[in-house]
Amino acid sequence: MNLKNQEMVQDLLLGQGDKMGIINKEKYAGVTIKQVKGIFPIFDSFFTLEKFDHIVEIGTGNGGFSTYIAKQCIKMNAKFTTYDINKIQTKDIEDYLLALNTDIITKDVNNDSHIEDIIKGEGRCLLLIDGALKTPQFNKFAKLIKVKDVMMTHDYYKDETVSEFGTFVFSEVEKAIDDNDLIIIYKCFENYLWLCVEKVRDLSYDN
Ligand SMILES: C[S@@+](CC[C@H](N)C(=O)[O-])C[C@H]1O[C@@H](n2cnc3c(N)ncnc32)[C@H](O)[C@@H]1O
Repeated sequence: MNLKNQEMVQDLLLGQGDKMGIINKEKYAGVTIKQVKGIFPIFDSFFTLEKFDHIVEIGTGNGGFSTYIAKQCIKMNAKFTTYDINKIQTKDIEDYLLALNTDIITKDVNNDSHIEDIIKGEGRCLLLIDGALKTPQFNKFAKLIKVKDVMMTHDYYKDETVSEFGTFVFSEVEKAIDDNDLIIIYKCFENYLWLCVEKVRDLSYDN
């Protein structure tokens, strides 16, 4: 991350009163994860209010954040599937996730129809997008998610001038939000670089 982005993240966090963190410094289960420090209380509150039948994560990475999500899924009796094009590096973390009933899929999510079946399947789904190509994935899954499903996409910058690899800004997804009747919910996540949207109506029936 360049200095400008670091300063921007700092500003966002200072705006929240969190003087501690910048991205890449949060840890879970002893594993460093690619999240802004202070993210877990926000997710804890979110999962107190919102329940899902299936959580799907794109971008397992080193599995630290996945471990947190897996534990949330056990609490709410939800299934958890996590995708990454690469295998988890640490066997202990992989074993831990498997023990937490996680379905770990090592595949390129852009060439996989199973994820589409999961999302179209029964029950409320939360899709967490934290792989590489955020904008095309947002645009694709905006169409596929069902009414009441929630889609959260990471590395979202409110500053439209940011164009680092792996990041995205509002103007890149605005049309998909409008076209698919998505609304932004839990704006507090934006300070942690997550954009959170929910589908409120299925427009495909209007045509
Ligand atoms: C930023 S890291 C994930 C960080 C993790 N969610 C965390 O919070 O620590 C992005 C991950 O997406 C994976 N990835 C990139 N492109 C992918 C693709 N097409 N399909 C599946 N995974 C992909 C990468 O291998 C990498 O592990």
